[in-house]
Amino acid sequence: MTRLPTHIALIMDGNGRWAKARGLPRTAGHVEGIRAVRRAIEAAGKRGIQYISLFAFSTENWRRPETEVRDLMGLLKRYIKSEAAEIHQQGGRIVFIGARARFEQSIQDLLRETEALTANNTGITIIVALNYSGRADIVHACQELAKKGGVIDDEAVKNALWTAAYPDPDLIIRTSGEERLSNFFLWQAAYSELYFSDVLWPDFDGAALDAALESYAARDRRFGGVSAA
Ligand code: IPE
Ligand code: IPE
Ligand code: MG
Repeated sequence: MTRLPTHIALIMDGNGRWAKARGLPRTAGHVEGIRAVRRAIEAAGKRGIQYISLFAFSTENWRRPETEVRDLMGLLKRYIKSEAAEIHQQGGRIVFIGARARFEQSIQDLLRETEALTANNTGITIIVALNYSGRADIVHACQELAKKGGVIDDEAVKNALWTAAYPDPDLIIRTSGEERLSNFFLWQAAYSELYFSDVLWPDFDGAALDAALESYAARDRRFGGVSAA
């Protein structure tokens, strides 16, 4: 691989369709989707990617049927409990972005404990977006800036976002054939390369990641300038 992204972001879509194609309930797709998350983190780590963002639950996902939201919350708790120790052992750092106050207290506690447990690790940083949207991120940043006062410029906005501590994603991958951001990293995606894969999220694996990385390596990122070559 010639040029590797520092930060990849994953819009993990297609769990429901994966389940439907098998005559299974949507939740079965989410369960399988968790296995794909594990594979993606491992594959990204092996390839030397330093930051991986995972769009796990959007601000708009509360619109889903109550039973599905409840199942997702249950899975989230179980997943974090079972994965955090493993990721910690491998030196990975887990952080969460999004408006946490909407989650039940036990989940909020779990998020805080997981961040604290892995805070000093120097391996891959896993940024999990929960009750996150790009617009909510920007609105929240504006509110913080208004409270603080002072100069509002590009740098000030960047530093008020939930992602202040991380570089912008170089590559955003969306699975399931949909070609939209669905309110993910709106500010951060300004110069991200976009890659859309027809693979449904539960089927995502190292080969699917490599296809995206190969496409990325061939892109000419100009950032408004002219090509170096
Ligand atoms: C992605 O899969 C998981 C979440 C958004 C939580 P979906 O549940 O959106 O699956 P489809 O799009 O209905 O197939
Ligand atoms: C995007 O998927 C959100 C996440 C992956 C968490 P959705 O399935 O919610 O997006 P839409 O509704 O197809 O745009
Ligand atoms: Mg979807």
